[in-house]
Amino acid sequence: MTETDPSPNHLQLTRGGQLRHFLTLDGLSRPLLTDILDTADSFIEVGARSIKKVPLLRGRTVANLFFESSTRTRSTFELAAKRLSADVLNLDISTSATSKGESLSDTLLNLEAMASDMFVVRHSQSGAPHFIAESVTPGVAIINAGDGRHAHPTQAMLDMLTIRQHKKQFEGLKVAIVGDVLHSRVARSQIRALNELGAEEVRVIAPGTLLPRDVEELGCTVEYDMARGMKDLDVVIMLRLQKERMEGALLPSEREFYRLYGLNQEKLALAKPDCIVMHPGPINRGVEIESAVADGRQSVILNQVTNGIAVRMAVMSMAMSGQMAERQQRQLEQQEGRA
Ligand code: CP
Repeated sequence: MTETDPSPNHLQLTRGGQLRHFLTLDGLSRPLLTDILDTADSFIEVGARSIKKVPLLRGRTVANLFFESSTRTRSTFELAAKRLSADVLNLDISTSATSKGESLSDTLLNLEAMASDMFVVRHSQSGAPHFIAESVTPGVAIINAGDGRHAHPTQAMLDMLTIRQHKKQFEGLKVAIVGDVLHSRVARSQIRALNELGAEEVRVIAPGTLLPRDVEELGCTVEYDMARGMKDLDVVIMLRLQKERMEGALLPSEREFYRLYGLNQEKLALAKPDCIVMHPGPINRGVEIESAVADGRQSVILNQVTNGIAVRMAVMSMAMSGQMAERQQRQLEQQEGRA
């Protein structure tokens, strides 16, 4: 890794290739993604203990900064940090000084002055965690909890963990992502992860109005017809219609969308019999998924939520250990400079 590396990795990896921030899956190698999954696997057992704690982040302070609403991501980051024994600060943006006009940079400077070791950031602006990672004091780790339409890397990794648990390996898998790909940071991160981990085919199924331009360049095939798209699938991932991000009329109606692209038992029967059904949440029953499918035998939607804790424990502990390795390296270089 060099300072002139144009990929995000000059920011998120140490010179030795360890995570120090977790901003995007772009540029992360298969061995590193596999290491995250293996580390997460080792934390699943912690969640089954009566005392669900390990001391890896004891004495560290994690600040959860959610500038956008969240249920699953925020709660599982908080639980993950607590299970790692960190002190957790949940900044309530609606009652914080941000609502009085304080800038993001000033909020962060103040939180740094409280000796925070890690910021978990969700923001409506794509690139906000990246911007913070560029300006933060060395030693403070930034974890992206979802930025605009750009990336949701921990969501994609918990999805990969769930797929690996059910399908054992990625090679040979046909995976479809269905619905509002245009506004989905989750889909972008999932496509990247599935390709890097070796899935045979990543297919997106959606109307043209809900697909980004040049969608194939993300690393997927495109199918506009749901019945054709469901054929031979091992995994189907449904997406929420992100109405809050839609500008103009991209759909005739929700009812028409559900008729054409909503997942019901009839459409699911077109996939392989052991096809698993996933959804990052929040689910909208009767908009993108039928209740009988969301709650059915092939659904692993709640497994995804549970796995979110282990994956976030893995990412936080790995980033903190990368920051510590880098700090030791800096100290060594300073000592050598003085000698
Ligand atoms: N999947 C996801 O990001 O859900 P939340 O918005 O509830 O965090």
